[in-house]
Formats: sequence, C-alpha cells, structure tokens
Amino acid sequence: MSKTTDPVICLDGPSGVGKGTICLAVAEKLGWHILDSGSLYRIAALQVSRHFPDVEVESIKESQIVDIASKLSVSYGQKNSELAIILDGEDITQLIRNEKIGDKASKIAAIPAVREALLARQRAFLTNPGLVADGRDMGTVVFPQAVLKIYLTASPEERAERRYKQLKDKGIDVILCDLVEELRQRDERDMNREAAPLKPASDAIIIDTTTLDIKQVTDEVMDWVSQRVIQDIN
Ligand code: C5P
Repeated sequence: MSKTTDPVICLDGPSGVGKGTICLAVAEKLGWHILDSGSLYRIAALQVSRHFPDVEVESIKESQIVDIASKLSVSYGQKNSELAIILDGEDITQLIRNEKIGDKASKIAAIPAVREALLARQRAFLTNPGLVADGRDMGTVVFPQAVLKIYLTASPEERAERRYKQLKDKGIDVILCDLVEELRQRDERDMNREAAPLKPASDAIIIDTTTLDIKQVTDEVMDWVSQRVIQDIN
C-alpha cells in the first residue's frame, strides 16, 4: 500500500545520462521499487504510432493522443537484471528503446493533458518500502516531497557515446552523429516545453557524471542516500 510517508529518491536529468542504470543499481542496493517514467511516455508513443502509422504527432488530435495515453494496459517485471515491459501481454521491452520512439515520446510528453493522464499512474509506483524514480520531472512535479533529489548531467558528447554503446549492446543499429543530433533536439524540446520542463528542482543535488563511471556515480548517490535518507546503510 502506498503511503504519503513512503520515501522517494528522484533521479532526473537529460537523455543518455545513465539515469536508468543508476536507478536500477540504487534500487537494488536499497531493495526499493523503481519507476522508469520515460518508459510510460515511450509506451504511449508506441501505441500512438500503432494507431496512427506514419502520421506525425503534430497531425494527430491531442484528445486522441490523451485517450491512448490514459488507457495503457502495461505491467513491469524483471528480465536479466533489466526492466521488462509488457503491454497487453506483449513484451515490448526492446521495441520502445529506439530513438524514433524516444523522439515521438518527447513530442507527446510536451502535451500537458498527456502528462496529467500519466501522473496518477506514476505516483502509484510509490509503495513500501520506497521508490527510486527516474525521469525529467520527478523532483519538480511528480514527487515534490522526495527525501532526496539528484539531477545527473554529462556533456552532450559523453551522453551520445553512452546511448550509442547502450543501443549497440542491445543490437539496435545507430549512427553516432545522427544520435548526437537526435539527443540534442530531444533535450532542447524537453528543456523548453511549458509543461514540466526538464530542469533541476531547487533542492536537487547536481552531479556532473561526464568523467565518472557507473560505479562512481552509484557510490556518490549512495553517499547522499546515507547522509539524507538512511543513516546506517552497510
Ligand atoms: O527517459 P527516456 O529517454 O526514456 O524518456 C523519453 C522521453 O519521455 C523524454 O525525452 C521526455 O520527453 C519524456 N519524459 C518526460 N518526463 C519524464 C520522463 C520522460 O517528459 N518524467
């Protein structure tokens, strides 16, 4: 059962910064639940592209997009220490991880009514003993009460490299210079939209991860967790 007093740790930041990996590592160390909020926007984007194949988001009625976003029948599981995503019984874990879906997700995420439609679903992830939530507006909008808010950054080049390696490892074909441009456009859209733009919460701790590896970032986040959240983590 969710209680407003259950603790939340927010990990926000731009695309390709490694939030998902750090979120999983921190949640595993704490034995807490995770919310990959970007996956909800990606799943909505996948459904929109299935309902309207080859139609640009701008040409679809907002009310139809909102309708799709509010009716997602999705469940989450774990597969080889990764998040598995099931939509209407279909495993869509890999299907939503390409940049085409990321771009469409960012377009529909700029629609305030879509964000509103996904808000309660995101908050419902907060159950005992606690939640590690990753996204763009976890600390600013979805969980303003969070006990710890971390904002991860890294240079655009480093983020593109990381995303490139991640997609290649998953067998997804990408061209690095295309990826740099796609991430740049997506970040610009996410930062400049009116509804819940990507920005650090006023009480967030900012960690520049450009020269850090996954373990170093996880350790730094866990240091903050022990200082702010739990005094006696071993
Ligand atoms: O994090 P991920 O790359 O999966 O997110 C895909 C897109 O979903 C982002 O570019 C952003 O536009 C949107 N998003 C958002 N708010 C969140 C998480 C993701 O607007 N909390």
